[in-house]
Amino acid sequence: MEKFIINGGNRLTGEVEISGAKNAAVAIIPATLLADSPCILENVPNINDVSIDLRILRELGAEVTVINNSTIRIDPRNIRDVAVPYELARSMRASYYFLGTLLSKFRHASVPMPGGCDLGDRPMDQHLKCFRALGSNYTIEHGIVELDADFLFGTQIYFDKVSVGATINAMLAAVKAEGLTILENSAKEPHIVDLANFLNSMGADIMGAGTDVIKIRGVSELHGATYSIIPDQIEAGTFMIAVAATKGDALIKNVIPKHLEPITSKLRKIGVVVMEYDDSVRVIGQDSYERITVKTMPHPGFPTDMQPQLAALLTLAKGTSIINEGIFDNRFRYVDELRRMGADISVDGNVAMIEGVSHLTGAPVKASDLRAGAALIIAGLSTNGTTEIEDIYHVERGYENMDEKLRKMGADIYKREIPANIRKAL
Ligand code: EPZ
Repeated sequence: MEKFIINGGNRLTGEVEISGAKNAAVAIIPATLLADSPCILENVPNINDVSIDLRILRELGAEVTVINNSTIRIDPRNIRDVAVPYELARSMRASYYFLGTLLSKFRHASVPMPGGCDLGDRPMDQHLKCFRALGSNYTIEHGIVELDADFLFGTQIYFDKVSVGATINAMLAAVKAEGLTILENSAKEPHIVDLANFLNSMGADIMGAGTDVIKIRGVSELHGATYSIIPDQIEAGTFMIAVAATKGDALIKNVIPKHLEPITSKLRKIGVVVMEYDDSVRVIGQDSYERITVKTMPHPGFPTDMQPQLAALLTLAKGTSIINEGIFDNRFRYVDELRRMGADISVDGNVAMIEGVSHLTGAPVKASDLRAGAALIIAGLSTNGTTEIEDIYHVERGYENMDEKLRKMGADIYKREIPANIRKAL
């Protein structure tokens, strides 16, 4: 295993290029198996979750060719109706998108229950509700979800809860169903729109993605397409906060400023200077920041995937900030680790109260999930000491070469292997 070593105190300056969006890529990659000819995907992030997705595609019989670091060719013509391997599926959340795609293609799917970040209760009831509404039976036995349908018929589905995953799986399952499917109370995240745009480029007929009503008229065939994945608004927001926390001044490139609006507006309220250009934003850190109150909400609200990173910044703001986690019921596991660094945070249920302190101190800490790891990196960069972060595999699931990108901006951060004997002792 490896850990990050951060010698904090350096201002982040210069510029950074944002990679393709993880949560768009992990939906679009499984969708390629619906095509009857090869697809070429560009701006694909080189991250572990994508590697797992590509391994699953290969296990299903697809031919996957890496053209360069961010371009991949997928030929789905030899895809077979076989089970998705258990260990691959349970290593990430997005493996459950193979349910919607395999059901669409074969009217059958056998996919193990997913894994992913431990953020508290993460049921799949809305996904299963959609599959059943479209005409599929399902069983869950031995940790495996099995779907079977004679036909898939378009229908009207109202989501009891706004769910990114269920909205995506419903789109994937309905895209080749007979007739019209109307999804109501749908999620509106940028990656929902990106998937709809990709499917439409393959010949699908999807309208309304990005609003809470999505209409999908089933088609009989989908052809291959060449498609460029949108930039990752969460990676961009993470770097924006890292620049602010180090009082830096840097240009965040390859972004869509509109996707960043929920993040930009909160950072400006704290006192961070954010200047927007066509495909980049300049972030200028300040000597002090104001407290704020924020609740994480589905898009276009403040994204839950930015909650830990924002908390790390608010530990240094003047006064008492309040964060209300409106999506998941256990997304404050990183707080104990920030306390090791001197943060003054109290948590009561889904609400964290953050008393600003003058500075944090370096400490040995542990990443509990992807965005928690990002928050600890931000905190470590802001100190004048040394921070060691273990379990960085969480971070590498969703951030491409994060340490390398930060080093180019002036951060003193590097990876160190934990020798096996010490690993046993941990
Ligand atoms: C996606 O997870 C993202 N993951 C998460 O990003 C993100 O935090 C989340 O959406 C919210 O934006 C991927 O896209 C791979 P949800 P997902 O279904 O689809 C409840 C990251 O850091 N719910 O929108 O699992 C659920 O428990 C990761 O990149 C049900 O009750 O999230 C949660 O409280 C972390 N029943 C809420 O809805 C269901 O059937 C939102 O979950 C499904 C969800």
